[in-house]
Amino acid sequence: MSYRNSKVVIVGAGNVGSTTAYSIVNQGLCEDVCLIDKNHEVAVGQALDMRDSVFFMNRNMNVHAGDYSDCTDADIVVITAAAPMPKDSNDRLEMLKPSLHVVREVVQSVMDSGFNGIFIVVSNPVDIMTYYTWRVSGLPRQRVIGSGTYLDTARLCRALSDMYDLAPASVEAFVLGEHGDSEIVSWNSATIGGKRVDDVLRDNEARTKGVTREDLQKRTIQAGWEIFSRKHNTCYGIASSTTAIAKSILFDENRIMPVSVCVDGMYGIKGTYLSVPTIVDHTGAKEIVEIDLEQDELAALQKSAELLHSFYPRLDA
Ligand code: 2OP
Repeated sequence: MSYRNSKVVIVGAGNVGSTTAYSIVNQGLCEDVCLIDKNHEVAVGQALDMRDSVFFMNRNMNVHAGDYSDCTDADIVVITAAAPMPKDSNDRLEMLKPSLHVVREVVQSVMDSGFNGIFIVVSNPVDIMTYYTWRVSGLPRQRVIGSGTYLDTARLCRALSDMYDLAPASVEAFVLGEHGDSEIVSWNSATIGGKRVDDVLRDNEARTKGVTREDLQKRTIQAGWEIFSRKHNTCYGIASSTTAIAKSILFDENRIMPVSVCVDGMYGIKGTYLSVPTIVDHTGAKEIVEIDLEQDELAALQKSAELLHSFYPRLDA
């Protein structure tokens, strides 16, 4: 029996990339974790530091810095590399121009290695960068996935669980569309313990304290900036969401998660990368799930897709 040696390469050893690598190591998701950074010594330092943690983990793993030749046999390449976000920024779309060439060079270098695995794109604006990665790589759309609104979904679930003193995992809801200002919440499918969120909000006035759907959507959109404005980055939430996507791929879990995939026909959307509920397995984005949205939710999702699609002509791929 040949032992399958799973390998994840993370490109970008900054806050997001190194935290993602550590999250993968902490959960023992694969045998080989490789960090690539334009500043190789930073990647070496992060890897040496993480190697010290392996002693305490529940399995042995090879954590190392590397170069693009390490992508040849990688199962997954996670792209976190991007230009630095201006400290006064409050729109991820501003990252497009300064980061586009960074992502293009990364994707070309990865593909030059003969990579034949699955991309998980994290670099913002993630939906457009995921589309761009798909175009530049030439891989099948199923094997190019963006972290999308999985993190926003976690933020919404945490906001609701905080209100009722519950575990976030007891809330089932989806944030869909752009990972950004035009994202939407699918209230039609949102439940807490199997009860519609709308009914929970209504039936628990003392704990709801007048919080509305609109308040929750605004808080979810603003959540990343509440962090960024204080520490000038975010890393733990995005690293954990990226790790969960990688786990569903590596362990063939068939989890349904709101990740950025190429929607072409469903939800009345054509040829656009944005987050919709998707079954993720060892092949990548195995299947899109078309859930019932309220009319205004569907219209808002389509508007989000139009916004994202409007950037495509400006990309040079
Ligand atoms: C966030 O919202 C990094 O865009 C990511 O935290």
